[in-house]
Amino acid sequence: MSTQKILYQPNPEFAAKAAIKNMDMYWKLQNKAIEDYEGFWKEFADEKIDWLAPYEKVLDESNAPFYEWFTNGKLNVSNQCIDRHLADKAHKTAILFEGDRGDVERISYAQLSLHVNRMANLLKHEFNVQKGDRVVLYMPMIPESAYAMLACARIGAIHSIVFGGFSSEALKDRIEDAEAKIVITADGAYRKGKPYMLKQVVDEALTQGGKSVEAVLVVKRNNEPIEWVEGRDHNYNELITSQHAECPFELMDSEDPLFLLYTSGSTGKPKGVQHGSAGYILWAQMTMEWVFDVKCDDVFWCTADIGWITGHTYIVYGPLAAGTTTLMFEGVPTYPDAGRAWKMVQDHKITQFYTAPTAIRVLHKMGEDEPKKYDLSSLKVLGTVGEPIDPPAWKWYYETVGNSKCAIVDTYWQTETGGHMISPLPGATPIKAGCATLALPGIMAEVLNIDGETKEVGEGGLLCITKPWPAMIRNIWGDPDRYASAYFGDVAKDGQPVYFTGDGARVDEDGYITIVGRVDDVINVSGHRMGTAEIEAAVAKDDSVTEVAVVARPHEIKGESIFIYIVLKDGHINADIKNHINALLSSEIGNIAKADHIIEVPGLPKTRSGKIMRRILRSIAKGEEITQDISTLEDPSIVEQIITKAREA
Ligand code: WT7
Repeated sequence: MSTQKILYQPNPEFAAKAAIKNMDMYWKLQNKAIEDYEGFWKEFADEKIDWLAPYEKVLDESNAPFYEWFTNGKLNVSNQCIDRHLADKAHKTAILFEGDRGDVERISYAQLSLHVNRMANLLKHEFNVQKGDRVVLYMPMIPESAYAMLACARIGAIHSIVFGGFSSEALKDRIEDAEAKIVITADGAYRKGKPYMLKQVVDEALTQGGKSVEAVLVVKRNNEPIEWVEGRDHNYNELITSQHAECPFELMDSEDPLFLLYTSGSTGKPKGVQHGSAGYILWAQMTMEWVFDVKCDDVFWCTADIGWITGHTYIVYGPLAAGTTTLMFEGVPTYPDAGRAWKMVQDHKITQFYTAPTAIRVLHKMGEDEPKKYDLSSLKVLGTVGEPIDPPAWKWYYETVGNSKCAIVDTYWQTETGGHMISPLPGATPIKAGCATLALPGIMAEVLNIDGETKEVGEGGLLCITKPWPAMIRNIWGDPDRYASAYFGDVAKDGQPVYFTGDGARVDEDGYITIVGRVDDVINVSGHRMGTAEIEAAVAKDDSVTEVAVVARPHEIKGESIFIYIVLKDGHINADIKNHINALLSSEIGNIAKADHIIEVPGLPKTRSGKIMRRILRSIAKGEEITQDISTLEDPSIVEQIITKAREA
């Protein structure tokens, strides 16, 4: 990969004004963190957080891996994102909303405060939502979603957002795991010029289960006809107008949970990733300032959905904590045409644009020259997240979108990390295409082997974070054992368990880290993280299937696609099996889980002890030569048969 070797230096004009202006500044910060870890974090916590009562200890490791940060400190995240800005930013736009159909709404910090206070009162007084209660959000990309998140934060309720693409079954599972008291949803919203529906998915979920739910609060967005369950369903738009405009915020402990966000792991059951308050909001703000270099008058656009961690940290919490303007977009960047995103950059003078490689590939394919039709000169920083970015997409993003003057920050992080971990700093780090470069100051990332030994330059290894950091996951909701084993059970360094990300990576001669991809059974389709075990569990619900194995196959646009091997029960011939399985995946998980390839095979490659050799299946799906020894398989001839089937597919 030749582009990998080229170093792109930061734009000097930009660097002069950047928060971190050069590599000396980077190393000064990082060395301070290495020498005095707690002192490093204390300085920023004192500077950035509006403490309502001081903390007693920066980091408490006594109950590792259940780390505590800023012990006994008190704060409120909604104060951090709203109230403390009202003195000087009341009239500044906090949320700039653009609807699918081009409708624009500007919500100032003062207006945001009013909406959030009212919603907090509504939840508290009409629905008796108390500190610690769980509130599930099944919402479109509309400002009310942000109001609901911040209203929960204000009263100390724990929100759990379920991405609107998940099915009723997946929604039900998440509601039940969190034992949610209330669900907030919308009738639906607009996408590609047409209304789509959400409320009926909630209705289905609550017919199937979710008995803890006492009420459903419905925001009207598209006013399409919806079913109404008397006594359970409540109209937000009617109730909100009579709510009091002030709701005093709850005094929250640094470690009180702020939200849960379910994500996939290597078993069939999704994990409720639990985040805390102080450490999370601190890092959300710091990374806005360091990685995106947001300034007072910037207009920041992150294209993620609020249903993912990227939307939590970089549409809502980070930008608002930093006091900037955040753009929230209901639609898709390719409608009405492939110039939509660039038109929006021009119209709103977007300064930072943050999206996923899969979106860049789509925009590139559909409209290579579209960016040239618009004035994109407001852009300063371009970001990517979610998967490695391939050189052609990177080059187009850098040259055509960024006019070769914007840094590309390839931000590596996870739902569990709360915010960025490894990323270039736009005013400091010389960048290489497709490389996340260096750990951010304060983050101790290392590529190790299973025994915690450092890998040689260029050698692949396990990407670990060897010190706890403020925004890290605190627990898996209701399952502390799984938290400890899933993240701290694999790698120990000097006898101490360290956080293992699940990703493989390598370090090059400049010390730069390149992410290779997941080494566990997690796959990444268009930036959506899915567990192969979860998909297998859904497929196994088909009565005619006896065995199933799911692997990833590289895909030009999506990064990876789902490739399924099935073995049918004896005597079963099912002509419609593929449609049936995709229908099952869509109802069990959601449309994001549809498979590109489903092939029926006579058996799976197994060792004599019955273990499925997934490595062989992955190689076959990729069309690679099988180089490993298959003679030890229970039935070596099966491999040839599978290869033939896969070729036909
Ligand atoms: C997984 C986390 C963090 C927000 C979006 C996804 C992959 C993430 C990068 C990157 C290569 C990346 C990793 C990671 N990933 N960013 N810049 N380069 N891979 O959050 O759903 O928790 O997925 O996404 O494999 O473990 P997530």
